[in-house]
Amino acid sequence: MPTTNPLSEPCVMIIFGASGDLTKRLLVPALYNLACDGLLSDNFAVLGVGRSEISDTQFRESMTGTDDGLPKFHTRKSYDQVQTDKLINRFHFSSANIAVEDFKKLKQRVGELAAQFGAKGNVLFYFAMSPRFFGPLCDTLHAAGFQDGPGWKRIIVEKPFGTDLASALKLNDEILRHWREDQIFRVDHYLGKETVQNLLAFRFSNGMFEPLWNSHHIDNIQFNVCESVDVQGRGGYYDSSGVLRDMIQNHMFQMLAYLCMEAPGSFEADSIRNEKAKLLESVRIYKPEEVPQYVVRGQYGPSFHDNGEVNKPGYRQEKDVKPDSGTETFAAIKLHIDNSRWQGVPIYLRSGKALWKRGTEIVVTFKHPPAAIFRGTQVDKLEPNRLIFHIQPKQGIELVFQAKVPGPALQLQKVDMSFNYGNAFKASRYTGYEVMFYSCMRGDATLFSRGDLVKAAWEIAQPLLDYWQATPPGNEFPNYARDSWGPPAASALVERDGRRWYEVITPEVLELSPLFKGGELVFLNAVIMALQSRSFAAGETIIRAGDPAAEMYLICRGEVEVTDKAGKHLQRLHEGGYFGEIGLLMPTPRTANVKAVTQCDLFVLERSAFHRITQDNPNFAESIVVLARERYNIVISGADLTSA
Ligand code: BG6
Repeated sequence: MPTTNPLSEPCVMIIFGASGDLTKRLLVPALYNLACDGLLSDNFAVLGVGRSEISDTQFRESMTGTDDGLPKFHTRKSYDQVQTDKLINRFHFSSANIAVEDFKKLKQRVGELAAQFGAKGNVLFYFAMSPRFFGPLCDTLHAAGFQDGPGWKRIIVEKPFGTDLASALKLNDEILRHWREDQIFRVDHYLGKETVQNLLAFRFSNGMFEPLWNSHHIDNIQFNVCESVDVQGRGGYYDSSGVLRDMIQNHMFQMLAYLCMEAPGSFEADSIRNEKAKLLESVRIYKPEEVPQYVVRGQYGPSFHDNGEVNKPGYRQEKDVKPDSGTETFAAIKLHIDNSRWQGVPIYLRSGKALWKRGTEIVVTFKHPPAAIFRGTQVDKLEPNRLIFHIQPKQGIELVFQAKVPGPALQLQKVDMSFNYGNAFKASRYTGYEVMFYSCMRGDATLFSRGDLVKAAWEIAQPLLDYWQATPPGNEFPNYARDSWGPPAASALVERDGRRWYEVITPEVLELSPLFKGGELVFLNAVIMALQSRSFAAGETIIRAGDPAAEMYLICRGEVEVTDKAGKHLQRLHEGGYFGEIGLLMPTPRTANVKAVTQCDLFVLERSAFHRITQDNPNFAESIVVLARERYNIVISGADLTSA
């Protein structure tokens, strides 16, 4: 699609580690998106560098293979062969080791390509290699004379930037030995996400929220990065990393900085980067002995089939992971920002692998409204307002507030105003790297981390690493089951403060239940809003056989046991599980008992609320009629679903 944005500047892009997975999966699809959007200069060429001895043609073929190349990994609605051919003909490959002689030959090749493509001597070096090579790469590029001659020279460095404070500082020194800070672009792919970039746009282009953005009005902020995937065969890397280094110290701290920083003087790179660094520098640095008070670590265990056999392995049984590994696959942290804007507002961060859903969201909870005015009404509890930034996979912003339920009595229900990217904009899906390349090629460092920010982020993380190293978890791990909400201690961390994690239920999560599978988004969102939370103590009966069915349950935290009328064990369900769906369909007596085995936090959907929703969504009522018959062998009519 033609665009009014200027083109990227001419350059030759050298990708070190070009035969790795990252190039195929993300870098080439991103370049392809830039090309399709008309943003890539015609004076552009790629030189892949690696140790394999492959020709230009073989390199091009490996990038465009149907099963493991651009046709598979592109993110656009349709695949454009003409654009691919145009782009891929600019791809070349040279084999080289990190040695001055090899790099001198590379320099010559780059010179030829620059002349052929009119790249004006501009060179972009992309380090898609293990960080241990970054220092030697910088030295060797310098020694081979890559900084000489006309045009700009810029380096993009992939994460992880160091493995702790000391190694990050050392790496910084190594890179800065021959290169200037303004030549170094440290990537954090979260900053390439539209929804993350929008945090600043949202805060500073809307007058409505910024006056409320402080400790007078905000009660707490929660950052949640839930991943349903496990380590996906990356055990070798992950076992020496863990979630603190892999997700929190970089991606989550970047989001924290955007959400909480002061207004920059302008959208200029350094203006923004100054404020981000200042914010992270205001985060309280814990003494190692304070860590257990504010931080919970976790590691996932296996999941089991009903017959007790292992379904999927626990972390310690994953490939390339030590059988007694103490690496954390989950962490929940309470931080304090000791500046005048945020003094006293707890900031909770939580991230983990093998959790029950995928979802990144930031939940800003405002202070409770005064409740006295509702005394003597049916309103027994007031919920605070919440502003939720849905980063992914749902992309949008949601304001949750209370509204009066229609009817003669004064009752309140949670409702929302919601903005969804997909409805408002017609953009293609991006990898996140497009804007990184484009900005770097135009010399705009806004979306890249400056050395001081990286240092500030490691300073916050370092005491946690130190404490964990000094106190190996041993038998404490594994402490959460696959597909659960993480270790119970993570809930306790927040509950000690009289608060709760705000669990964002997404349509994907609801669709785990056959009843909601394939539901229209409007319908699913209405259901999500109608869910109410309810807690049961260990041993308490949730459903009694014979009682009339009036609702369904979704397990948010805890474990339940299902028994038949005679008390015989049928199954156990835990976080993410559902039961009682039939209660939504008709008021038949319950056929089984359900008891809380542990303390349980559940979401409940009442039949009356469900019917209100189906009334507004007659299409869905029809499909539920069919599903009830096919799956549950229950005959109901559309009318049954629309009467409360
Ligand atoms: C990477 C981590 O930086 O980010 C992975 O190394 C993680 O472990 C990934 O899965 C998450 O990225 P995204 O864009 O899927 O949220």
